[in-house]
Amino acid sequence: THCILIGAPVDEGQRRPGCLMGPAAYRTAGLAATLGALGHSVEDRGDVTPAPPGTQTCANAAVHHLPETIAWTNALREATAAALPDGMPIIMGGDHSLALGSVAGVALHAARVGRPQFVIWLDAHSDFHTVETTTSGNLHGTPMAYASGLPGFDPMPAFPNPIPGENICMFGIRSVDPAEYAAMQPTDITVNDMRVLDEQGIVAPLREFLNRVRAANGLLHVSLDVDFLDPSIAPAVGTTVPGGTTFREAHLVMELLHESKLVTSLDLVELNPFLDERGRTAKLMVDLVGSLMGRKVFDRPTRSYG
Ligand code: ARG
Ligand code: MN
Ligand code: MN
Ligand code: MN
Repeated sequence: THCILIGAPVDEGQRRPGCLMGPAAYRTAGLAATLGALGHSVEDRGDVTPAPPGTQTCANAAVHHLPETIAWTNALREATAAALPDGMPIIMGGDHSLALGSVAGVALHAARVGRPQFVIWLDAHSDFHTVETTTSGNLHGTPMAYASGLPGFDPMPAFPNPIPGENICMFGIRSVDPAEYAAMQPTDITVNDMRVLDEQGIVAPLREFLNRVRAANGLLHVSLDVDFLDPSIAPAVGTTVPGGTTFREAHLVMELLHESKLVTSLDLVELNPFLDERGRTAKLMVDLVGSLMGRKVFDRPTRSYG
């Protein structure tokens, strides 16, 4: 695979400074070398620079950094869409508001090549607020509602081609606000919250979704939020929620995604290196990318996983 690293030092989607150091931390933790050792070619396109922010406003007074977020969305949409014909974009965040742009960029590319778009959202949070419903005003809590084409994003550029709920699958969910819950009710989004993982494990629900992606010849975007992981193994995130996935659950998801050969783009989001302990969260995220891109201890026949 030709891996295209895209730095997205986005900090404006939440209130705790530090996510802007994410791309540098991934580079320092050896992301490119990890990919190269697995036999992939790596191209680092550097950090995206957004246009100067405009003067857009919205009715919800809680919302902050809306013009900055719109500028990032436009820049990251274009950078992601431009990378996809050349290889697999890996967007190194930056907070999760970057997915407003990266997922929109995949949508542009999907429309150009005539394939449906699928998203796996690995996160403690559903990030299903609109600009109107968010009470924190933190726009990192909105990308999945945006990608679903929900009304309530007026000042934002329209999402290119809204993603049907049956093409979205969430894992690791354990923090959903009431307005997000209400907005997701009428959709067909698969929400595999931590209770589902406790009861069924991660393999069966993931395999079911991957079979749908394969049957549809879809493009599969993976959005990995650091808080998908339990805070005990991944402390470098502003929005820790107890009860997250374990080291092995997270690697297993990545290994199954690799064996599926379906993943076409990846976000790494919410890493706040200022909160890290000797780089352990950055290193864990890089190791998870290693598993996603083919690192394994033993080579087993993949057919046992369908
Ligand atoms: N739902 C909360 C909010 O809107 C938390 C969102 C956290 N999102 C994230 N990408 N970490 O503020
Ligand atoms: Mn500011
Ligand atoms: Mn998130
Ligand atoms: Mn989260």
